[in-house]
Amino acid sequence: PRFFALVPAAGIGERSGAGMPKQYVDIAGKPMLAHTLAALAAVPRVAHTLVVLSPDDDRFEAALPHHQGWVARVGGGSRAESVLGGLAELRRRGATDDDWVLVHDAARCLLRPEWVDALIDACADDAVGGLLAQPIADTLKAGDAEGRVTATVDRRDKWAAQTPQMFRLGLVERALTAMGAAATDEASAVEALGLAPRLVRASMANFKVTWPEDFALAAHLLETK
Ligand code: CTP
Ligand code: MG
Repeated sequence: PRFFALVPAAGIGERSGAGMPKQYVDIAGKPMLAHTLAALAAVPRVAHTLVVLSPDDDRFEAALPHHQGWVARVGGGSRAESVLGGLAELRRRGATDDDWVLVHDAARCLLRPEWVDALIDACADDAVGGLLAQPIADTLKAGDAEGRVTATVDRRDKWAAQTPQMFRLGLVERALTAMGAAATDEASAVEALGLAPRLVRASMANFKVTWPEDFALAAHLLETK
């Protein structure tokens, strides 16, 4: 089997408050998406990376003018739909059921090639597949609409799910099709089939740039790496 990467980059970045899709915001001299793609391109085992854009994206060519890799304008209204569109495109380009697909958020631009290698090393012989994740260090609280604590949640078995998430094309396509737009990641859809993806520890630095204040932290980490 081969290893493909699929990067959903069809979101609007509403929570970022950036006034444009956050994947195009300049961070440390390059659009966020360029950092993300550079990390994946530095993993020799990844045969191709497919970027999934919104059909009405009008920024990609100007933002990444030298991009040589695979691009498909098949994004949908949810992340899961964008990923499903990308999986169909991978099939059109020759990928088959047994090939591995590493789905990675465009917004996780701090990705490091060694974490991707660790994921592949841990999962390439696994019957299910797995994901990068980080054990929760903070005490976890549940809160209500007024911002008051309703409960303290036991953190000891809790992990923050990250990406890449790595599954066989046939399995992840079946799982996402069954769960639909409700799936916020691939692993949850695979879990709903009764399977247990492997958790592979990465780093807190593999966070998803989401809120306005995240851009400065990402820039700092990228400038000092
Ligand atoms: N994504 C996508 N298609 C969508 C929604 C999200 O391809 N319909 C992608 C985003 O571009 C992002 C990744 O999925 O790289 C993770 O999603 P998220 O961080 O939620 O990004 P946005 O949906 O763009 O941000 P927000 O939820 O704040 O609007
Ligand atoms: Mg979103």
